[in-house]
Amino acid sequence: MGTVFSLYQQSFPPKPRWLVKDIPDQTGKVVLITGGNTGLGLETAKALIAKNAKVYITSRDEQRGSDAIDELKRTSNNAEVFLIQCDLSDLRSVKAAAENFLSKETQLHILFNNAGIMFPPMSELTKQGQDLQFGVNVIGHYYLTKLLLPAMLATVSNETGGKARVVNTSSSAMLLAPSGGINYDTLVDGPARRKFDNVKLYQQAKAGTVIFSTELARRYGDRGIVSISLNPGNIRTGIQRYVVGLQAKILDFVLYDKAVGVLTQLFAGTAPEAEDLNGKYLIPFARVGSARKDLLDASAGVKLWDWLEAQTQGV
Ligand SMILES: NC(=O)c1ccc[n+]([C@@H]2O[C@H](COP(=O)([O-])OP(=O)(O)OC[C@H]3O[C@@H](n4cnc5c(N)ncnc54)[C@H](OP(=O)(O)O)[C@@H]3O)[C@@H](O)[C@H]2O)c1
Repeated sequence: MGTVFSLYQQSFPPKPRWLVKDIPDQTGKVVLITGGNTGLGLETAKALIAKNAKVYITSRDEQRGSDAIDELKRTSNNAEVFLIQCDLSDLRSVKAAAENFLSKETQLHILFNNAGIMFPPMSELTKQGQDLQFGVNVIGHYYLTKLLLPAMLATVSNETGGKARVVNTSSSAMLLAPSGGINYDTLVDGPARRKFDNVKLYQQAKAGTVIFSTELARRYGDRGIVSISLNPGNIRTGIQRYVVGLQAKILDFVLYDKAVGVLTQLFAGTAPEAEDLNGKYLIPFARVGSARKDLLDASAGVKLWDWLEAQTQGV
């Protein structure tokens, strides 16, 4: 399928057939949502609380996080919802967030690797000196997932036929990433990175999400982990904050509401039929799609996994 067709197909999806009301009861389920203070993460939290899940949201900013907790408590009855501070652009913060979660819970049923940032200034890097978009979207989420995997594996073995899901929010932008997905030389400041722009770096980061998700599926699928990546659709949220002027006005015409934007990740995280979608890529709204072929290549997965391991050594 050509890139242009895929972009069109994902930008103008048919009316959703799977809806929030189709989420099964989540009583007894523990869920963690990164970037749960706003946008799709906050909507995901609302939907899951309404279905009785115990929900942890992460926020990089304490105040924005506690405002979101207040909102979630206000809009639900006695919600079991908790805040974990986590700046995904700082691996030490990710480690502290995982430790904080694991000091409270021994199980984790669904991890939504939802947080993301798009088109920040090129000068912005992570605390450890890597490209900010790759750091937040990929490195931080890889590290968080790795630290939380023991709790997810414990969840799997505690329940007969148990599964734990990792839902990785990518984007149709991955279709436009460099060949092979990632140019590793652009991930730290230097001449190669300066030849890229922040749009290319976002496309690359979202390709990284797909490669990571698929490799996680390959490594842990037979141990009960279901790893799914997805494009939520073009949705009106804070992610467009760096798109300004005429571009922003034009973009606004093709954006959908959060109410539908949240469906694909909720489907991946909760629909019984999505339990069979380990390693798959979903497109809006809640449909099985296909990622770019080169991103699914096992050698791309091994290369990224090894690179991520090296980046997170000794944190
Ligand atoms: N909306 C779309 O059209 C669209 C399309 C394709 C893919 N996506 C993906 O969907 C996901 C959700 O985005 P959204 O649309 O809901 O955007 P959003 O409203 O901007 O929410 C993004 C979330 O990520 C958090 N975040 C940003 N940098 C972070 C960091 N360093 N550490 C921890 N958290 C950080 C934000 O925190 P703050 O509130 O503090 O900034 C916010 O909670 C993202 O992965 C995005 O790339 C969105």
